[in-house]
Amino acid sequence: MNEMKIPEHIAIIMDGNGRWAKKLGLNRIFGHKNGIKAVRDTVEICGEIGVKYLTLYAFSMENWYRPPDEIAALMSLLVEAIVKETPELDKNNVQLRAIGNLSSFPENVAVKLNQAIEFTSKNAGLILTLALSYGSRWEITEAVRAITERAVAGEIKPEDINENVIEQYLTTYSMPDPELIIRTSGEQRLSNFLLWQGAYSELYFPTVLWPDFNKKDLIQAVEEYSKRERRFGKTGEQIREEKK
Ligand code: FPP
Repeated sequence: MNEMKIPEHIAIIMDGNGRWAKKLGLNRIFGHKNGIKAVRDTVEICGEIGVKYLTLYAFSMENWYRPPDEIAALMSLLVEAIVKETPELDKNNVQLRAIGNLSSFPENVAVKLNQAIEFTSKNAGLILTLALSYGSRWEITEAVRAITERAVAGEIKPEDINENVIEQYLTTYSMPDPELIIRTSGEQRLSNFLLWQGAYSELYFPTVLWPDFNKKDLIQAVEEYSKRERRFGKTGEQIREEKK
């Protein structure tokens, strides 16, 4: 473990809950319930190895198109998990945050979520961000709208709009970009997750289904990341020279 390069920010697309349940002949919702154990394990191991930011894609904007009973079950699971896990998160110095179009969430979910966010807001350990009703295209569209409004009001000149300005309008503005994005279940897509922030992320696609993802799988992902050479468009020689 000494050799591992620990990413400052890991982002995860938790995929495969439905397939996990189907394999056991059970309802998809059973898969989501078992996904919570994997969330707990992942939060713990990230804290243990010194990851500073963990961002989990818990509910995409497209997930609103799922059958109403599955959406309702996911919402109550979310509230239940937030209420139940908050004391433990707090004990472990975890700060909870959320990104996404939270106004589209039922009021009871939003209230519980905001209470948990407030309750853990002073914690200085791992920053756990839940992406809820999140989509990158929505986020970038919102940023464009906000910047345009400022431009129309004469508060910013078009020639002053650059990448740094755009970043300030993204939901992740105070976080570093994720060095590593993991998607479980073998699917190899980003599905509208952190498209701007993930421009240079290393991508890792283990075949394990999310409810089976455990601490060992997270370590394996970090070990794989440690072997990769991040070049940001430069040559390998340039990068090795810079490291000397
Ligand atoms: C994707 O699997 C998973 C989801 C849409 C929901 C993820 C939610 C949880 C793990 C539980 C709650 C989370 C927190 C943070 C408390 P899928 O249903 O798309 O699986 P499939 O591709 O096999 O159908």
